Amino acid sequence: LVFTQTDRTRRIGDEERARILAEPGFGQHYTDFMAHATWRLDEGWGGAEVIPFGPLTMSPASAVLHYGQEIFEGLKAFRHADGSVWTFRPERNAERLQRSARRLALPELSVEDFLSSLRAAVAADEHWVPEATSEESLYLRPFMFASEEFLGVRASHKVEYYVISSPAGPYFPRGVQPLVVWITDEYARAGAGGTGAAKCGGNYASSLLGKDEAAQHGADEVLFLDSETHTSIDELSGMNVFAITTDGRLLTPALTGSILEGVTRESILQLARDRGLEPVEQRLVMSDLLEQVTSGEITEMFACGTAAVINPIGEFRAHGGTWTVADGGSGETTLALRQELTDIQYGRTPDRHGWLTRL
Ligand code: COI
Repeated sequence: LVFTQTDRTRRIGDEERARILAEPGFGQHYTDFMAHATWRLDEGWGGAEVIPFGPLTMSPASAVLHYGQEIFEGLKAFRHADGSVWTFRPERNAERLQRSARRLALPELSVEDFLSSLRAAVAADEHWVPEATSEESLYLRPFMFASEEFLGVRASHKVEYYVISSPAGPYFPRGVQPLVVWITDEYARAGAGGTGAAKCGGNYASSLLGKDEAAQHGADEVLFLDSETHTSIDELSGMNVFAITTDGRLLTPALTGSILEGVTRESILQLARDRGLEPVEQRLVMSDLLEQVTSGEITEMFACGTAAVINPIGEFRAHGGTWTVADGGSGETTLALRQELTDIQYGRTPDRHGWLTRL
C-alpha cells in the first residue's frame, strides 16, 4: 500500500501543540493526521491515504458496533538526540496484529503495509514527536474494525484500518510510582479457547469492571487470575506481570493463550537474560507468589506494556488481606531494566539486539 496525502491542513496551531507537548498525559490529545485504508472482500486492501484527524462517518448498523469485531496495536515513536525518529520492534506488532486478525476473522495486513502505515502517519505528524530531552513519545494506535452495514453474525465483508497518534507521557497519572494492585476473585479477563491472546477491544471491555472494583479498594490496577481455577496469574487490565526472586530468577506467566504476548514482555525477558537473571515462564500460582512476597523470597514485582513501559508494583490487595512487596517502593532491578529499555528506545545506549526501526 502507498499512503497518499492531499490535504496537509493542520488542525492544531503551533502554540496549542507546544502546550499539549509540555504535559501530554496519556491518550488525551491527538495529532493533525491519521492513516487509513479499507479492505473489501472482493478487492482486498486499497484506498490508502493520510487524512486530517477527525470524526468518522459510519452506519449505525456497522458490524463492529454490534458484535465487537475489532483489534488494535500500540507502539511508540521516539525522537533521538540527533532529531531522527525511531520505533521499537514494529515487526512484532505487525505479526501480532496478523495473529489478532486471524482470531477475530479480520483480514491480515502485511508487515510491509503495517510499516508503511506507521511511516506515513509519523511523516505527516513529525512535528508531534516530542523532543529527545523528555521521557515522552508519540504513541501510535493502529486499529481495524468491521465496517460492513450488516446485522447478521458473520465476518464482515468490509473493514477499516486506521493509525491515529497521541503524544504520550506517563501512562499512570501518578507517574512511575509503585502500583497498588487489586486481585479480583470475581472476574476473569479471558478463558481457554477465547480471545485472551488477541489484542481485541473485547478483552479490555471485559477488564473494566475489575478495574472499577480495584479503584473501589484504592488500587491502581486489577490482576486477573485464570478463568478455570482462579489460582494462577494471567495479567493486569492491559499489562503483563513479572516477579524477581532473591536467587536471581525473573518470573512471568507462561503464554497459555489467555494472556497477551507483550512486545515489552518479550524484550524484558531478553534484557534480563543479558544481565544474568534467569527468565522463567511458567504457571504462577497466586497464593505461592504471595507467600514468597511475605517470606521475602520475592523482592520485586512490576507491570509492563508499551504504554506503561515498566512500572513497579508495591502492594497487592484482595478480600483476604494486603501484601507489601519488599518495602513497597520501586525495586532496584525493576528501575534498572526500565532505564535500559528506555535508553535503547531513545538511542542513548547501543541497540545491541537490533530492535529499532527508523521511521
Ligand atoms: C499498550 O501498552 O500499548 C496497550 O495497548 C495497553 C493499553 C492499556 C494502553
